[in-house]
Formats: sequence, structure tokens, C-alpha cells
Amino acid sequence: MKRRRYQGRDVARALTIEDLRQMARRRAPNFAWEYVEGGAEEEVTLRRNREVFDDIALVPRTLVDVSNRRLGIQLFGRDSAFPFLIGPTGFNGFMTHEGDVQLATAAARAGIPFTLSTVSTVALDEVARRAGGRLWMQLYLFRDRDWARGLIERAERAGYEALMLTVDISVYGNREWDARNFAKPGQLDLRNKIETLMHPRWLFDVMIPHGTPRLANVTELLPPGMTSARGASAPLGRQHNPSLNWDDVAWLRDLWPRKLIIKGVNSVADATRAAQYGVDGVVLSNHGGRQLDGAVSPMEVLPEVVAALKGQLTIMLDGGFRRGSDIVKALLLGADAVLIGRAGLYGLGAGGGAGAARAIDILANEIDRVVGLLGTDTIAGLDPGCVRWRSQGRLYKGASGEGPES
Ligand code: FNR
Repeated sequence: MKRRRYQGRDVARALTIEDLRQMARRRAPNFAWEYVEGGAEEEVTLRRNREVFDDIALVPRTLVDVSNRRLGIQLFGRDSAFPFLIGPTGFNGFMTHEGDVQLATAAARAGIPFTLSTVSTVALDEVARRAGGRLWMQLYLFRDRDWARGLIERAERAGYEALMLTVDISVYGNREWDARNFAKPGQLDLRNKIETLMHPRWLFDVMIPHGTPRLANVTELLPPGMTSARGASAPLGRQHNPSLNWDDVAWLRDLWPRKLIIKGVNSVADATRAAQYGVDGVVLSNHGGRQLDGAVSPMEVLPEVVAALKGQLTIMLDGGFRRGSDIVKALLLGADAVLIGRAGLYGLGAGGGAGAARAIDILANEIDRVVGLLGTDTIAGLDPGCVRWRSQGRLYKGASGEGPES
């Protein structure tokens, strides 16, 4: 008999993130799916983010008692249940109604932080009120600084623990497959309009009862009555700020008293500069392959950044994490934590809040298995000697070493 994945709708029967992905693919209309799934231009970086994990091999230790495994970590001095957290993704309301609240609730119940995007479809205060848990706020620093100041104050009042400035979109990435679904900005072409009508489960969850999702944190930046996510791209585009630079980081550092994180750093030089500006953490990231096509995978940069800066600031990364083993590989190379983007969205798209919870559960179970099979019982106890780059046969010394050994 031919191998076949589960074809139904019960997220409890999804065994992997890929299972959830295919369930979400069936449920969502093409335009919403393409927005989540696609990358920039030739999608070289999108593929590279996944392929890099095949190049890293695990070297297990055996005959170790692993009967008491624990997956918790310390992140910014606080307990986190697992070594991964939810990264910021915009327009979550297109995967399921109030996607931000559902994903944040799943994260809070699991005991991991959730990062809300600036372009979320539920307001930051409402997410805090309804989901609770450890919340981080992602910031796109648009031209209007009064708006930014207001948003930051709201985030502080609502109890957000960290502010995460995204710095890899000085210019908008070119996602051509996404653009092809629209006759003009904000207006689907006929083919996609018809295709959307063929997804009743999605229509009755997202569009019909509630109307097009709205961008809830940026209303002041949009013309009155134009907060619908459909019409927001042009006015938000005018707010885009290509002059963003390190002075803005200094400005934010003065304004925001809690943890400050920069997301989208991809070199030792920039990570070092972040530390000099008093930033608490970096997320090595190429925006999930959605910005600079051809950009390096964060996993490739990680060992260098760890060798230069481990202990000076919290080193996180994202891009292509779909398996517990992917996450463990990053931890073995010295990462403090991993952010997941699409993996959580696949859960949301497959089955709302229950699907999001299932995605977290799948990854946690996989990490537990991999950690045990490597012969370790804690995340802190992972041995950097348990990993090697397969293609070059190189071994990394890990967190305390100087980087690659030939
Ligand atoms: C993103 N990402 C993103 N990043 C950010 O800082 N603010 C945002 O609003 C968004 N929005 C967004 C939407 C969608 C649909 C995706 C897939 C991604 C980038 C995101 O935070 C993260 O860097 C990548 O998603 C990581 O790659 P994976 O895990 O999706 O492969």
C-alpha cells in the first residue's frame, strides 16, 4: 500500500508539523496560503533554511540514564517550559479567526513566550488581556515616531516583557508569487476570488462572520475607515522607513526599560554592535526567506556568533525549524532559544487554537525524544560534541570553542 499521511481534520491525529502543514493547506484559500508559505524571488533562502539541517548530523551518546528528562530553559532569567518560543508573524487572522489570541493562548498554556507582530489582527492590549502568559512585542519602526512611542507605552502598560525590533526589512522583500494573486494591491484576481469561494470551512471561520481581518495596532497610521488588512498595504508602505539605523536602536534603548531584542541580524559584526548598544538579545534571522533572497541561513552564522558573543547577550535564531531535532541542533551549536514562525501558523491553519497547541506539543515531544536519544536529560546538559557538519566533516567546538575545526 502507498504511504499516505492522515487526510482528516482532527489535529490530534497530526503526528508532525508537516501533517499540520498539509491540513492547513487544504483548509486555507490559495492567497492566504501563499502569504504564509512563500519566500522572496527564487526562494533560494527559503529552501536553504530547511536544507541546512540535513547537513548537520547528530552524534549520540549511549548508556546514559535519561529517565528524568527535563526540557525547561532559563530565558532572560525566567523559566520557559521548552527551548523554543513563538516568533512574530503578521496577519495571523487570515489563518483562523483571532489567530493572534489563539496562538498566544496556546503558548501561555504551554509555558513559552509568544511574540506579537506589529501587524497583528488583534490589538496588543487585547491579546494580553485574553491570552496572558509571557508576551513579547515585535516592532516595525515606521516613520511616525509619535505612533511608535504610543505603541511602546501601550506594550509596557499591558505587561509585555520584551520589545523586538525587526531590522531586516530596510527595503520590502520581493515575494512575487504572493503578488501574482492580486489584480492590484488589496484586490484578488478573479481566479483567486473563485478559488477562495471553494474553501467554505475557512470562509465561515475567517471572513463571513467577522469580515476581513483588521490591522489592530496601526490604526493611527491608516486613513479613517481603512484599517482592513486588505487596504492597508499602500498607506503602510508610505510609513515604511528605509533610513532605520543604529541611532534608532539607541533611541529605543532609552525609551524601553525592559528587554530589547533585535531580530534580523545575520553577522558577528552586527550582533557585536547590538551588544554595544545595550541590546539584551538578538534573533539571527532572514525573515523566513521572505526578504533578501540568497541570504545565508541563520544556522550557518550561529557558530560564529556564539563563539564571539555567548554570555554577552541572549542568542536566538529562526528560519526553517520544523522538527524537534532541528531545534536541538541549534541548541547544540550554542543557541539560547529558537523561534518558530510557520510551524505555529500551520497549527493555526489546520485547526485554530487546538492546532496551535498541537504544533507546540509535537515539537516538545520530538525534542524530548532527541534529547534522550543523544544521552542527555536536560537542555543545559546538551553536549556540543554531539553535533557535526556532515558535508564538510567539520566539528564545531560549540559554545565555549572558537568555532569550526577542520
Ligand atoms: C513573518 N515574519 C515576520 N517577522 C516580523 O518580524 N514581523 C512580522 O510581522 C512577520 N510576519 C510574518 C508573516 C509570515 C506569514 C511569516 C511566515 C513570517 C518572519 C518570522 O518572524 C520569522 O522570521 C520566520 O517565519 C521564521 O521562519 P519559519 O519558522 O517560518 O521558517
